[in-house]
Formats: sequence, structure tokens, C-alpha cells
Amino acid sequence: MDKALQYIEKNRENFVEVLKKLLQFPSVSADSKYKEDVARCADHVQKRFESLGLKARQYPTKGHPIVYAEYRRPENKRTLLVYGHYDVQPVDPLNLWNKPPFEPHIENGHIYARGATDDKGQFLIHLLATESYLKTDTPLPVNLKFVIEGEEEIASNNLDDFIHEQRDLLTADGAIISDGSMYAPEVPAITYGLRGIAAAEIKLIGPNRDLHSGSFGGSICNPVTELARLIARFHGDDYHVQIDGFYDDVRALESWEREAFANLPHSEEEYLATTGSAGLAGEAGYTTLERIWARPTCEINGIYGGYSGEGSKTIIPSWAGAKVTMRLVPDQNPDDILDKFESYVKKVAPKGIKVEVNKLGGAKPAIVSRDSFLVKAAIRALQKAYGSEPVFMREGGSIPIVNVFKEELGIDTLLLGFGQHDDNAHSPNEKFALSDFHRGIITAVHLFSETQE
Ligand code: BES
Ligand code: MN
Ligand code: MN
Repeated sequence: MDKALQYIEKNRENFVEVLKKLLQFPSVSADSKYKEDVARCADHVQKRFESLGLKARQYPTKGHPIVYAEYRRPENKRTLLVYGHYDVQPVDPLNLWNKPPFEPHIENGHIYARGATDDKGQFLIHLLATESYLKTDTPLPVNLKFVIEGEEEIASNNLDDFIHEQRDLLTADGAIISDGSMYAPEVPAITYGLRGIAAAEIKLIGPNRDLHSGSFGGSICNPVTELARLIARFHGDDYHVQIDGFYDDVRALESWEREAFANLPHSEEEYLATTGSAGLAGEAGYTTLERIWARPTCEINGIYGGYSGEGSKTIIPSWAGAKVTMRLVPDQNPDDILDKFESYVKKVAPKGIKVEVNKLGGAKPAIVSRDSFLVKAAIRALQKAYGSEPVFMREGGSIPIVNVFKEELGIDTLLLGFGQHDDNAHSPNEKFALSDFHRGIITAVHLFSETQE
């Protein structure tokens, strides 16, 4: 293993070049315009695995392909499934980027590009740790199965079927995902909870065309006004979500967990500063960490309708729409929440308007084991790489496949993020600290050795 660690030091710069190459592919899964680029990115990832001598192939899906690669050595007792995603979020608004999002550049020790932290830089950590073993003729002490998909940012809709169909191929003792954050710089963390998500679109349809607001205004339902009134009824003054039955299946925070969260160093000021927002807002009775890690939400992601061009236009718009996502916590179920959402919208919408609720699916929340063999190995690996014990935390984002690993393959997942909260994932100027990238690779080399039996 020492040789592998030396290899990392010697190849510090080369590894950054490898990451730069990967970040040049505009693998935006949400936008069909990039379909070919997503495919080229998958080819590139496959080739990287092959260059290490791993058997690699692609599995086509109804959407973007899945890259699969395998390392096997007969003496090894354990097999780990490493999951990551090579797709990225759209880049708009492009004008807020300081440099083009797919022309990675380095500044102040960070690499800037879409996908830098989410998730290209992070899954690459495991690939380069593998390289560090194999290129130094150090036998890898565990078998590895890599699943690197191209649809995580659009809810992994085709991955469930793949896992189900290939459950024999994918047998493993545990899964590893690096697609999240550390607690803070220099403070490594193991994440044991992720929120789920349920997504929907609402459309309110009024008159069959935009109408003159002088001739008709004040006499019939205005869809934009009614949408605003409707959305205003999603929350009470205390930010409690008012959808009937929304909290029915929410597992209450236990006192040990509230205490553990409260004991973590957390500055509301710093937290606010990273967002540039003027103030905190959230469900009454909960701290910020509780709100983002362990409480469900209902968020309006976008609202549209009517005239928003230059000057004014005196109309009653014919329709209005909104996109909504709800973050879920155990034991809420996305399908059930979407049913409740639809019933509530239909209940509170005015009678004089047509209401459409388009359910866009979701993902279940996840709580993973805090004492699996992988978690124990990760504690030892982090101790060696950082010289400190990790913090146990939850995170507010969603990784749809975590539950499927448990349900289909019967395995626990280790969530080991190397990003930082201010890496600008999904935002302009996404970045990843080269020091986090480097230390991540060291950690992964230790982790592979600590997981052997
Ligand atoms: N890497 C994130 C998930 C994440 C975010 C984990 C923050 C930990 C902290 C992932 O790529 C992501 O963005 N997931 C989407 C899922 C959605 C499209 C179904 C999300 O959370 O919005
Ligand atoms: Mn991600
Ligand atoms: Mn993401």
C-alpha cells in the first residue's frame, strides 16, 4: 500500500489533468441537445477503466448509458460496489460563470467547472485510488464493481431496472458513494441520512386565450393571481407545510440525534454568508441543521405565466404554472406524498379554474447503517488520511439509488463525501478543492485496504 500512496504523491499533477479531461465533456443529462456529449463522456469513462486493465462495458438504457467496470482477484474476500454519476446539471445562467463551465481552470487551489464536485471529481477519486494500486503492482485487497451512471441528475429513472435485472452481476458486500460533502474543510464526515424527493408541476388554466384586462378584469378568475394564492397556502406562517397528511409518516427526531446535531460546531452567520441571503427562514421549532437534514419541505422551484416582457401588457393571462419539489424524510413515500399534494391542490384551488397536477416522480429518503463493516473501515481510513475521527451527519440532498441498493441487493451504503458546502454544486462557478480531491484519493486507498477481511 505504501507504493500506492507514493504513486498518489508522484502523480498529483497528472491526476488533475485526468480530472480536467473528464470535466471537458458537457454531459448534461437533462437537455437532449447534449445527448451525444453524454454518450462521449460515457465512452471516455469506460476507456479510463480499461486503461487500468479493468474489464469495462456500457449498458444502454432508455436514457443515457451506464458504465460498468470490474476488478476481481480470487484471493479477495470482499467485494465493494462503487457508485457515481458522470452526468451533470445544466449550466444556466451561463452569464454568471467567470469562465466557460466546460473549460476547467484552476484558481486558488480549486478546479472550476460544472461537475467538478458533483460528481466527476468525487467518483474519479475511487478510480484513481484503484489506479494507484494497479499501476504499482500492489494487489488490490478487495474486489470492486463500479457503476457510474448518466442519469442521477434527472432522478436515476432507468437505474432501478438495471439493478434489478443485473442483481446477480452486482452482488457485493457493501456500496460506497462519494457524492456529497465533508462537514467542513478538514472535518471529514460520514453521512447516514439523505432526504428523498417528490416532484410535481401545477398548471392553472383560465380563459381560452389572454383577455383584455379592461374588458374582463375583475369578473373572472385570473390564473396567475389564483396560482399565487394557491402557493401561499402551502405553508403556514410558521413555515409548517399545510398539505393534509404531509407529516403523517415523518419519523420524529430522537433526542440523541437532536443532541448530536446541537453539538456540532455550526455558525448561522457563516451559513448565511455562503448563500448571500439576507435571513434564515424555516419550520418553527427546529434548528437549521434539523431543518435541512431531518425535516421535510415544500419548495417552489419556478413560477411562470402571463406577460413578463418589457413595459406592461394589460391582460388576464390564459394560464399559469409552477414547478414544485418536496424534500422528504423517513418514512415518507414519494408516491403517497404526490397523491396528498394533488388532493390538497384540488381542494384549495378556486372552482372557476381548471387545475392540472402533473406528478413527476421522486426518490425515497434514506437512512443507512452507522455501524456496517464499511463505516468502521471508513473511520479507520479517515483517521489515517486526516488524523481525526469523522463527524456523523445527515444531508439534505437526494441520491435516489441508495434505497435500491438495500432493497434489491441487500447491501448497506457508505456515504463518504469529499466536497464542501460552498463548492457551488448546481450553481454557477462550481468548484472542487484540489486538496479535497487529493486527500480523497489517499482516503480511498486506505479504505480499500481497511475493508479487506
Ligand atoms: N450529489 C447530489 C445529492 C446530494 C446533495 C447529496 C447534497 C448530499 C448533499 C445529487 O447529484 C443530486 O443533486 N441529486 C438530486 C436528485 C434529484 C434530481 C432526484 C437532488 O438532490 O436534487
Ligand atoms: Mn451528485
Ligand atoms: Mn447533483
